[in-house]
Amino acid sequence: MDPETDAHLRIGFIGAGNMAFGIAKGIISGNVLPANIKVSAPSKRNFGRFQEIGIAGTNSNVELVCGSDIVFVAVKPHLVREVLNGISPYITDRHIVVSVAAGVTLETLQELLPENTSVIRLMPNLPCIVQEGALLFTRGSCAKPADGALLRSLLQHCGLVEEGPEAWLDIHTGLSGSGVAFGAGRVLRDSGKHPAQLRSEVCTPGGTTIYGLHTLEQGGVRASTMSAVESATERARQLGQKSTTRK
Ligand SMILES: NC(=O)c1ccc[n+]([C@@H]2O[C@H](COP(=O)([O-])OP(=O)(O)OC[C@H]3O[C@@H](n4cnc5c(N)ncnc54)[C@H](OP(=O)(O)O)[C@@H]3O)[C@@H](O)[C@H]2O)c1
Repeated sequence: MDPETDAHLRIGFIGAGNMAFGIAKGIISGNVLPANIKVSAPSKRNFGRFQEIGIAGTNSNVELVCGSDIVFVAVKPHLVREVLNGISPYITDRHIVVSVAAGVTLETLQELLPENTSVIRLMPNLPCIVQEGALLFTRGSCAKPADGALLRSLLQHCGLVEEGPEAWLDIHTGLSGSGVAFGAGRVLRDSGKHPAQLRSEVCTPGGTTIYGLHTLEQGGVRASTMSAVESATERARQLGQKSTTRK
């Protein structure tokens, strides 16, 4: 992707919360100017940290949409319907709408936006803020491969960005969105070693790490971790169902 393209894109975030801030921080560490990014929320209470990095805020989602090419929907899942209903009349074919709301499906997003809208569902996580995010996205039926490539290019400074099937997104939410576990994760990825091998390499017999691991095993860490990912995945599915049934 031509770096010049990114530099001229106008990017809007609906919602001024933690996730919007994390992605915005990641994006501006690339070549997008803060002046080309805007954020909207009903109150001004979360605008301070955006303003500190040169991003302006507005209380109008419509104003934000009209001045943006890429619109990130970063409100809580139960508010997505209301927010999309409000902006839908202002979405044109120049827009790409990217939702980060956990559990809200492409089907629901597309149903709430004008026909043929380029919609992308993205699941990021907070380490975007330190450019160490793990981001997975799925394109809606009208989002072209070029739209995906544009998003990927825009998010490249947020961390590892992959495109995958929608069925993976809830799992990614449970694993990476809810269970931020980088550090060891990066070593694992870069070394290509099996986790058990890596673990044994950091466990000097009788050393501090094996003592720590002993405590974790006593607490049933493996079973708890598996259950935690399962519960968070299930919750993501429940949130998606709620937003589908609430007409
Ligand atoms: N946090 C994470 O780690 C994470 C990871 C992956 C995905 N997500 C997804 O990201 C989304 C946002 O989560 P978050 O943690 O960033 O939430 P958050 O910190 O609670 O922020 C929510 C933001 O939405 C704003 N808002 C509320 N109603 C609005 C409306 N009608 N129009 C525009 N903005 C509105 C709030 O405004 P005020 O500032 O006025 O209160 C606030 O700025 C969620 O859907 C979540 O599933 C989060």
